[in-house]
Amino acid sequence: MKLFEPLDINGMRIPNRVLVPAMVTRLSGEDGHVNQDIIDRYVRYAQGEVGLIVVEAMAIHSSKSGPLLRISDNAFVAGHADLARRVHETSGSKIVPQIIHFMKVARSGWRQTIDMLSVDEIDLIVQQFADAAARAQDAGYDGVELHSAHAYTLASFVSKRNPRRDAYSGRTMEGRLHMFGRVMAAVRKQVGDDFPVGARFLAEECIKDGYTVEDAKLIALRMAQLGVDYISLSVGGKFEDAVYREGQPLYPYTGYSGDRCMPGDWYPPLPHAHLAAAIKSFINEKGYAVPVVSAGKISDPVDAEGLLQAGMADIIGMARQLLADPDWPKKVRQGRTDEIVRCIYCNVCKTLDENFKEVHCFLWPKHLRQAPPVETVGDAPAWPKDGARLQARFKKGEIKLDWSRAAGDVAGYDVYRAEDDGQVRCVEAVKGARYRDMSVLGGITYTYYVRAYDAAGRGSVPSNTVRLTLPLPQLADLEEVC
Ligand SMILES: Cc1cc2nc3c(=O)[nH]c(=O)nc-3n(C[C@H](O)[C@H](O)[C@H](O)COP(=O)(O)O)c2cc1C
Repeated sequence: MKLFEPLDINGMRIPNRVLVPAMVTRLSGEDGHVNQDIIDRYVRYAQGEVGLIVVEAMAIHSSKSGPLLRISDNAFVAGHADLARRVHETSGSKIVPQIIHFMKVARSGWRQTIDMLSVDEIDLIVQQFADAAARAQDAGYDGVELHSAHAYTLASFVSKRNPRRDAYSGRTMEGRLHMFGRVMAAVRKQVGDDFPVGARFLAEECIKDGYTVEDAKLIALRMAQLGVDYISLSVGGKFEDAVYREGQPLYPYTGYSGDRCMPGDWYPPLPHAHLAAAIKSFINEKGYAVPVVSAGKISDPVDAEGLLQAGMADIIGMARQLLADPDWPKKVRQGRTDEIVRCIYCNVCKTLDENFKEVHCFLWPKHLRQAPPVETVGDAPAWPKDGARLQARFKKGEIKLDWSRAAGDVAGYDVYRAEDDGQVRCVEAVKGARYRDMSVLGGITYTYYVRAYDAAGRGSVPSNTVRLTLPLPQLADLEEVC
């Protein structure tokens, strides 16, 4: 499989094409130091054989925030060195930190914007990026990733809504890219030519008057011209459309652009893959082979492989799926895809992040603060002697399913559904032995079965299947209701 072909990124050889993009964990204290929980979280990805681990956004400055990692002072380097070493000792995974500068936000709803920055303050930010990258190198990380996505400082310069009118002017593409160019030059000077420097930016801003993939192609091209070693794409996540909640600092993932950034269960799979593909093909045509990371609701190994085979991406980014099951790469490599704990995109992780609470996955057994350990004990879950006895009823617009509890160490149940004679898909994972399907439509035949799974993802055999044809509403009946 192409997924398991190694890739050389400026001397950093990643063992496969699976990348976990940065995901804030809230596991560090307010002091911003690497602690044991942080180490455990990233070592777990290494155990699962993730090719490139991007450590959550860490601050390059000392501005106040909730629990967030920092790399803003030499005092933080020892902790990062420990983290990098532990990951390297675990497997062939490579590890880079995502370094971020963000501006001030107040509980009143006020926020600092880039037009408020003086030239001296801008110079300081450039220096802070360079210093943080040097610390990343000192700590033994394999490279560094510049955070130029979402609502943060670098992304605000690149934005089509950049309000500045000086050398960093939002009126021109060159003006918008000036800050990134300065940061990249300063970082490169500090770390040298041989240290991989990646960048994350938005394929689309997804806000009113924000930029689209057309600008993103040029941004990617400039990054390639500047010697960025890999390009990781995200989407949305802006302050401009964030929803203000009384007494709470603005969280940039509460509006429509936030939905697009971490698309929930109501979005189809791969909603952004076409954007990464367009950007990749544009820079390739211009003669640059910088690897492009595609992310956004990619979880099925067949989809992931398909994107690589079709030349739509060079690396597959999976954030929530790898949080749910860090063993995804190992299981796929070993042909154990039916043991993958599939992300259901419920966004519990996102809500935890928003509320400054430790980020974990809804699908993990309740008491766990990290993904379940690799070792499995005992047998996989099994149905009782008389089977799962899955049954389905249609009432008041929804199909209600219930079944018997499975025996064994059950972590949850996957619910599978097919419409008419179409493909079977896992539509939900639930903890209890019942499920309400509220997205069904009259006139369609639905077929269901469920499987119990344990914390390691090992499943029972499928339950019995049930099939229901929902009545097609008659125009005459609808008229009567009116
Ligand atoms: C809890 C959480 C924290 C995140 N933190 C970051 C972050 O620190 N930096 C970043 O660039 N993206 C962050 N993201 C966005 C993800 O990296 C990713 O782009 C997004 O979740 C879509 O990918 P997915 O569908 O594979 O989850 C975060 C997402 C989640 C759910």
